[in-house]
Amino acid sequence: MARRRVIGVVSQKGGVGKSTLCQLIAREAAAQGKQAKILDFDVKQMTSVDWVRERLERDLEPPVEAEPTKNVGKSLKQNRGYDIIVLDGAPGSPKRTAELVPECDIIILPTGASKADLVPTIALARRIAQMSHEAEGPLFALCRILTAAEAAEARATIGAAGFMTLDGELIERPATGRRRISAAAPARPRFPRSTPRPGRSPAPSSTG
Ligand SMILES: Nc1ncnc2c1ncn2[C@@H]1O[C@H](COP(=O)(O)OP(=O)(O)OP(=O)(O)O)[C@@H](O)[C@H]1O
Ligand SMILES: [Mg+2]
Repeated sequence: MARRRVIGVVSQKGGVGKSTLCQLIAREAAAQGKQAKILDFDVKQMTSVDWVRERLERDLEPPVEAEPTKNVGKSLKQNRGYDIIVLDGAPGSPKRTAELVPECDIIILPTGASKADLVPTIALARRIAQMSHEAEGPLFALCRILTAAEAAEARATIGAAGFMTLDGELIERPATGRRRISAAAPARPRFPRSTPRPGRSPAPSSTG
């Protein structure tokens, strides 16, 4: 069996799409036959734990698991039997973010395209690059994107700061939130090829 991969999705900003991205990664990994679990570090909101509970209530496939935790080391020891562990970080907690980073094989920073999102996220990326042993450094994921132009501009800004952005974007879809409130279906946002770039593969396979 391939070794377990730990993917950390972190941002100190709230509402940028951390939990949505974690769910997407875990769900796509599970759809590929992998055993996937989300460790939800936002123990107040427990967004991903709730999402998994709703899926269970509705017998939705593929199965994804989640548990709330505050202790990354302990939880990773207790969950050795998985192929993919996705860490759903809590917003606004630099100390907790710092605890998660060394445990990750891949670190993804979800960000919107606005300056207000990019500036603190690039600052976080720089701090993570200094802490992490990952040769490539953290990867940005564009979330809640409205237009191809703003995505392209954000990519350029991130690239100029010396970081990589995953291909594709999680575009802002009003129906995403509505679906999740009604629990009629699991959130299954896609990374559409809204800004195709020749020779590059779409994001889900590169994250999961
Ligand atoms: N692409 C999208 N289109 C529309 N709504 C979205 C999209 N992505 C996320 N949302 C909605 O935005 C809200 C915040 O998303 P999410 O919970 O993934 O962010 P978060 O970074 O985990 O937030 P928090 O910091 O509160 O944990 C949720 O209501 C979610 O359904
Ligand atoms: Mg969240």
